[in-house]
Amino acid sequence: MPALCPTLRRDGDQVVILDQTRLPFEEHYLHLAGLADAVTAIRDMQVRGAPLIGATAAFGVALALRHDASDATLEEADRSLRQTRPTAVNLHWALNRMRAALLPLAPDARGAAAWAEAEAIRREDAAANARIGEHGLALLRRQAATARRPLNIMTHCNAGWLATCGHGTALAPLYAAHAAGLDIHVWVSETRPRNQGLLTAWELARSGLPHTLVADNAAGWLMAEGRVDCVIVGADRIAANGDTANKVGTYLKALAARAHDVPFYVAAPRSTIDLACPNGAAIPIEERDADEVRMLAGLAGDGSVVRARLVASTSAVCNPAFDVTPAGLLTGIICESGVLAPDALAPLATS
Ligand code: MRU
Repeated sequence: MPALCPTLRRDGDQVVILDQTRLPFEEHYLHLAGLADAVTAIRDMQVRGAPLIGATAAFGVALALRHDASDATLEEADRSLRQTRPTAVNLHWALNRMRAALLPLAPDARGAAAWAEAEAIRREDAAANARIGEHGLALLRRQAATARRPLNIMTHCNAGWLATCGHGTALAPLYAAHAAGLDIHVWVSETRPRNQGLLTAWELARSGLPHTLVADNAAGWLMAEGRVDCVIVGADRIAANGDTANKVGTYLKALAARAHDVPFYVAAPRSTIDLACPNGAAIPIEERDADEVRMLAGLAGDGSVVRARLVASTSAVCNPAFDVTPAGLLTGIICESGVLAPDALAPLATS
C-alpha cells in the first residue's frame, strides 16, 4: 500500500490540507483557519475529489463553530459550504450528517461534537476505501487468471488517495493488487482540462506502480487494439438507477469499452450513491471557467510554474466538468459493501 501524505488533517483548532492546485509540481500544505478558508479550498479545488470534498466540508463546519456555535452560525456554514461545488453529492451527504449530529445539541456542546463527527467521516471514508480495495482486488485476481500479463487497467481523472481520506476509490484496487504482487499496468488518461490524470501519474509514480500516461483521445484506440483489460473510474454522484456522473470524458471511455467488450467498473463509497436522485438527467453538472480550457500550466526551464494561453479569448468555450455514464454501460459498482449491479441499488436504502 502507498505511503499516504495526509490530504486533510486537524491541527489544533485549524485544518491542514495538501494544496492540489500546486501538484504535481510542488507538495505544499495549507492551514485552514476558518469557514472562509474551507469554502475557498473546495471552490478553488485546493482539495478535490468527491469524498475529500465531503470530508473537508465537515471540517469546515467544525472550523466555523469554533467561537460561535449558534444555530445562525451553523446555518451559515452549511449554506456557504453547500454552494461551493454542485456535482459531488458527498458534499451534501457530509453536510446533512453534520446538521443531523449538531442541530439537536445545545450550542456549548456543538464545538467538540463537530470535530468528532468530521473525524468520524474522515475515518469511515478511509475504511470504505480499504474495503473497495479488497472487493476490487478480488475482481482483478479473477481477470488476471485469464488475461495476458500484465493486466492492463485504464483509469480516468484522479480517484486515488488525493481524492479521498484513504487509499482512494478507483485506485484502491490497484494499490491492493500491486501490494498482493499482481502484475498490473495502469493506463492513465490525462483528463483535460484540469489534468487530474497528472495527479494520478504522480500518485502512482510515488508508489512504484507501472503506468503510462496517454492523451484522453488515445483510449478508444488502445481498447480497439486489445491493450486494455478493464477500466476502473471513480464517481462524483451515482443516481438511484445507476447512472453515474464522473469527470468529463468518462462517458466516451464507457462507450468505447462497450464497443470493445472491455469491463467497465465504477468504484465509489456509498456516500456517493444518491438514492434521492432518480437518474442521470437529475444530476447537476458543474460548468467551470472557460480559462481552464484556454490555458495550460506547466514547468518552465527555470523550474517556475507558468501558465500559457492556447487560444484567443474570442473563441467561445464550453467547459462541463463532469458527464453522465448511463447505468447500462457499467459492468458493476465497487463499493464498501461489495460489487453491486448498477441497476440494483434500491435495496441500499434499507440496508
Ligand atoms: O473536479 P474534481 O477534480 O473534484 O473531480 C472529481 C474527481 O476527482 C473525479 O471525478 C473522480 O473520478 C471521482 S472522485 C474520487
